[in-house]
Amino acid sequence: MRHTDAGSGGMEGGEEIPGSDVRKVIVDLGASSYPVLVGKGVRSQVSTLLSESVKRVAVITQAGIPWGVETMREELRIELPPGESAKRLAVVERACSEMAKAGLTRADAVVAVGGGVVTDLAGFVAAVYHRGIEVLHVPTTLLAQVDAAIGGKCGVNLDEGKNLVGAFWQPKAVLCDTETLSSLPECEQLNGRGEMAKYAFLGVPNLAGVPLDQQVAQCVGHKAAVVSEDEREGGRRALLNYGHTLAHAIEAQALHHGNTIGHGEAVAVGLHFAALLATRMGRVGPEEVEKHLAVLDRLGLPTALPGYVEVGETLEYMARDKKAVDGLTFVLMGDSGCEVVSGVSPDLVAEVLQSMPTAL
Ligand SMILES: NC(=O)c1ccc[n+]([C@@H]2O[C@H](COP(=O)([O-])OP(=O)(O)OC[C@H]3O[C@@H](n4cnc5c(N)ncnc54)[C@H](O)[C@@H]3O)[C@@H](O)[C@H]2O)c1
Repeated sequence: MRHTDAGSGGMEGGEEIPGSDVRKVIVDLGASSYPVLVGKGVRSQVSTLLSESVKRVAVITQAGIPWGVETMREELRIELPPGESAKRLAVVERACSEMAKAGLTRADAVVAVGGGVVTDLAGFVAAVYHRGIEVLHVPTTLLAQVDAAIGGKCGVNLDEGKNLVGAFWQPKAVLCDTETLSSLPECEQLNGRGEMAKYAFLGVPNLAGVPLDQQVAQCVGHKAAVVSEDEREGGRRALLNYGHTLAHAIEAQALHHGNTIGHGEAVAVGLHFAALLATRMGRVGPEEVEKHLAVLDRLGLPTALPGYVEVGETLEYMARDKKAVDGLTFVLMGDSGCEVVSGVSPDLVAEVLQSMPTAL
């Protein structure tokens, strides 16, 4: 099993490209390896990173994303409907039809410019159009830069659940242009910070003490290393779901009760819960809860359960979690870091949930 630091030459967060402030991380997947560039202005690299053979490009983006790219190719612009509603099979069909009408062939490419909704949808369009064409991601949210755009997972939602139809389709390159984050609303910054907090507990050091570009590069470096070792989520990649079992249950209840909560905020509460549960199971000492609270607080993230969360309903959602093949399953800390733990007692989970503070 390969375990590299993503070809970054032993440096956490990739290697700096000489003469620039740009950092480069390699997702090391043999013949499918690709670079992730992190820095201000890197979206200008789109035209040079596309394969020379690409003549036409479908630029897939979403209304309200105030950033564009120069592809130096014949271009078709596809604007997706707003929000998560864009991640539907009907939208995939519409995008593929537009591409077919514009004459895009299997030698052409898709460029995604947007948040995780856009990179998930565009990646899937690229995976299925002509049985797979080149895709290049330009993620414009913090969450998409540190997580969604890296690693090749893409897909759409069904009425029955999120991300139930999808593929693994690795991009040609990912351009994390940190300049694009300057227009991101605070609630979306918070979402990204929730995912960043997860990386802090998975072993990414000093996230709080370095500039934003380096924070992004360090998270990218960690995700790249994990994906390089476990592309299809057979093992280590599952640890990236730290904090997510409760987060998904909270998000589902928010939807059910007509409330809203950002994914990153839900992850933050889920991280607090996971530390409490690990402590109750004797896997770590109580100081770990304090460490979690300190990191979450520093990042301005919430730690209390939203008022609409019901314990019984939470247990039902947790039982339906994709990881839950053998009873309630969580990513939990132990002596040697995080691991997937199955068969956790529902009574204990209920007790820990009841012990948590509730937000008004
Ligand atoms: N494939 C994966 O591995 C993976 C991992 C995590 C999340 N995801 C998916 O990612 C999606 C969430 O992604 P997200 O948090 O980026 O949300 P998003 O894509 O919905 O973007 C959030 C909002 O920010 C706006 N926006 C984007 N960039 C902007 C910018 N630079 N300036 C101003 N506004 C901007 C968007 O229009 C949108 O309204 C979910 O569908 C989730 O399932 C996928």
